[in-house]
Amino acid sequence: MGSGNGQLLNLTLKVWKQKNAKAPGSFETYDLKGISTDMSFLEMFDVLNEKLINEGKEPIAFDHDCREGICGMCSMYINGRAHGPMDATTTCQLHMRHFKDGETITVEPWRASAFPVLKDLVVDRSAFDRVIAAGGFISVNTGNAKDANNIPVPKPDADKSFAAAACIGCGACVAACKNSSAMLFVSAKVSQLALLPQGKVEAQDRVLNMVKQMDEEGFGSCTNTGACEAECPKEISLENIARMNREYILANVTK
Ligand code: SF4
Ligand code: FES
Repeated sequence: MGSGNGQLLNLTLKVWKQKNAKAPGSFETYDLKGISTDMSFLEMFDVLNEKLINEGKEPIAFDHDCREGICGMCSMYINGRAHGPMDATTTCQLHMRHFKDGETITVEPWRASAFPVLKDLVVDRSAFDRVIAAGGFISVNTGNAKDANNIPVPKPDADKSFAAAACIGCGACVAACKNSSAMLFVSAKVSQLALLPQGKVEAQDRVLNMVKQMDEEGFGSCTNTGACEAECPKEISLENIARMNREYILANVTK
């Protein structure tokens, strides 16, 4: 984590601190010197936390796991944008070279009633897990390994399914939406299977159950502002929402 060829930045951080879901939160200001532009945003937080621990202060709680842009844990608002200023980038893959020396950076947790703040920047995103669980399973034959391409899938469908499956469940779509709608996430999860023959068997139950769970979790409704697609680090397309709506209407009339 050396400074490499990068420059060093002095920064002021304004970070949301909140003890638990019930406590009122507020911003704390931290001064940080000598941050390499080669560091990721989370490495910068590691440096800040090490400094706080050395000073006998409480470190800032934030979620992270893979640090490779695949787990969806590193959720936070940076300067008013979900995952910060770069498009198609998770916080763990955001580098400090995108910030200026002397800059003040404001960091907040996701704000949506379905994602309660647990502590500082950590929110409870288990509502997403319950939506996925409500989708159930697919009836694939789990016998011997099949030959590749045993079940023919048209290439355009495979591509769209793959693109939908890229959703990492980070929740930026919910956080970016003024209604806290989870439609982009749920539609990605519905679409990745609805597009494939293997997913057709339970398709109708899946969309009905996932939408029902989404509503029960308290996410808002979609008013087509497109903020979700704009902030999604995996560039999940709004097309998936249209597909989910079609699947949902079809399931409702045929079930
Ligand atoms: S749709 Fe995009 S923003 Fe929403 S959870 Fe999936 S990856 Fe994150
Ligand atoms: S820590 Fe896994 S996506 Fe950022």
